[in-house]
Amino acid sequence: MNAPLNAPVTVSILGLGEMGRALAAALLGAGHAVTVWNRTPGRAAQLVESGAVEAPSAGAALDSSELVIVCLFDHDSVHETLDPLVDRLRGRVLLNLTTTSPEQARELGRWADAAGVAALDGGIMAVPSMIGGPGSEILYSGDQNSFERYRHVFDRWGISSYFGADPGLASLYDIALLSGMYVMFAGYMQGAALVATAGVSATAFAERSAAWLSAMSGELVGYGRVIDGGDYTVAGQQSLDFSDLSKMLEAAAEAGVGAEPLAMVQSLIARQRDAGRGAEGFARIFESVRHADSVAGSGGGERQTTVDGSAAAA
Ligand SMILES: NC(=O)c1ccc[n+]([C@@H]2O[C@H](COP(=O)([O-])OP(=O)(O)OC[C@H]3O[C@@H](n4cnc5c(N)ncnc54)[C@H](OP(=O)(O)O)[C@@H]3O)[C@@H](O)[C@H]2O)c1
Repeated sequence: MNAPLNAPVTVSILGLGEMGRALAAALLGAGHAVTVWNRTPGRAAQLVESGAVEAPSAGAALDSSELVIVCLFDHDSVHETLDPLVDRLRGRVLLNLTTTSPEQARELGRWADAAGVAALDGGIMAVPSMIGGPGSEILYSGDQNSFERYRHVFDRWGISSYFGADPGLASLYDIALLSGMYVMFAGYMQGAALVATAGVSATAFAERSAAWLSAMSGELVGYGRVIDGGDYTVAGQQSLDFSDLSKMLEAAAEAGVGAEPLAMVQSLIARQRDAGRGAEGFARIFESVRHADSVAGSGGGERQTTVDGSAAAA
């Protein structure tokens, strides 16, 4: 007979770094039977005080639980830890929360499949202190039955989002979201370096930037619609010619600060303008990224139209 939904489960967590400890603590708080293991002993004391059992080996940790979670350094460390134990994983559910590339997640999925292990891969959209609190989300892909079976366990960490059977999808979304985050952070650093030349603190500028960037994030959906529609000539868009960042680059040079974040965006704009697409919308820089091996990309068709809707020579 199946255990009732939401019942406590036996769960083992391999890897007690910052993140593994936060994940384990949250599951202990939810009343699950948690076994923990770490390559280097001595990191489990607080969890053991809170009711966890420390396994003497990774194999013993696997033997203790129906659900096995690994949160290690990287893809290689996952294989290094699990390969010798693959027979002991059979019949259990594996959730890999170690950050890996989509292809590495797919490789681990094939490895698990061949061993008869139901597996999920996850991407953690949180830092350890956020686990179990507001704003924490974990992305999942892989075996859907396992996701549904253990979703009540996962929900303890934050919002649980499932993307599909392809094990690489969670990682793909993870990396895509982090791409936006890092470039946004670099943009803030660029601005902070500029205003620092006028004696403005990075903290004061951060507060102003947070409000500005939050307001501007409303533009993303509009860009998404243009990209999906494939027509960068739709009226009402800010054109690439208008978006030219030369003045901003000059200002950075005048101030004597670096300009790499700005220069990166300018190079995406320049590729489209150089290909004769300057009258089209700013969203067209998507084509500079999408087609790494071509100058302008193919989106938008052959016919060019200015942003106010009038036809232009191709
Ligand atoms: N921290 C975050 O904000 C965050 C956010 C999202 C995702 N993640 C991901 O979560 C994973 C863990 O992150 P973390 O912050 O917990 O890292 P961490 O504090 O550096 O811990 C790394 C863990 O991996 C173990 N490890 C390293 N190499 C190993 C090997 N060859 N065999 C077995 N164990 C090995 C370490 O064990 P020892 O103690 O023996 O060295 C430790 O338990 C990473 O993939 C990270 O990208 C972290």
